[in-house]
Amino acid sequence: MSTDFKIRIASVDDQEGVTKLLKASYPILMKSRYPEKHLSGILPLITKANASLLSSGTFYVAENKDKRIIGCGGWTKEKPSSREIETGLGHIRHFASHPQWIRRTIGRKIYERCEKEAKMSQIKCFECFSSLNAEGFYRALGFKSVKNIEIILKEYCQIEAVLMRRYF
Ligand SMILES: CC(C)(COP(=O)(O)OP(=O)(O)OC[C@H]1O[C@@H](n2cnc3c(N)ncnc32)[C@H](O)[C@@H]1OP(=O)(O)O)[C@@H](O)C(=O)NCCC(=O)NCCS
Repeated sequence: MSTDFKIRIASVDDQEGVTKLLKASYPILMKSRYPEKHLSGILPLITKANASLLSSGTFYVAENKDKRIIGCGGWTKEKPSSREIETGLGHIRHFASHPQWIRRTIGRKIYERCEKEAKMSQIKCFECFSSLNAEGFYRALGFKSVKNIEIILKEYCQIEAVLMRRYF
């Protein structure tokens, strides 16, 4: 099994590659925990690369030897969809691995990079709005589930998730 990939900081030039990855990953990997009908409504809203994340300097991609993007994820000081910043708190953002590359440590390695950099920025705790299917992954990284939440994506369109936290 190949584990041949490299992690680098994302840039605005990765818009297409990251969108392609999200479109390959979310529909397959989220269907274990979300009904197909619900997913078809929310997928168009959550499978677009976020331009501000790509240019944040704290968002990463994993590339295989052919330079194809097979994983992504990062963190921000700002709360998702907001400019709110709370001292010492970081937010985990848009983790995804390609379905053909899951369980090969891509997610874990990207997370380790996030944690290392966050610690250097005086972050003491990461918060994450985990999809239901990703709760086991974040638990394996040391996160604890806090409560079930609903994230409003737009009017009449929400998604169930789990608020999780990890203190360093
Ligand atoms: C969640 C996700 C990013 C994990 O990526 P990954 O590259 O497969 O993760 P890793 O291989 O680094 O896994 C590390 C550990 O996490 C745990 N883990 C990973 N996926 C898991 C799952 N689906 N269920 C339970 N535990 C899981 C395991 O302990 C794993 O270690 P192991 O393989 O040695 O047992 C990937 O499954 C994904 O893209 N899911 C769809 C998108 C999504 O829901 N993203 C989260 C948005 S909040």
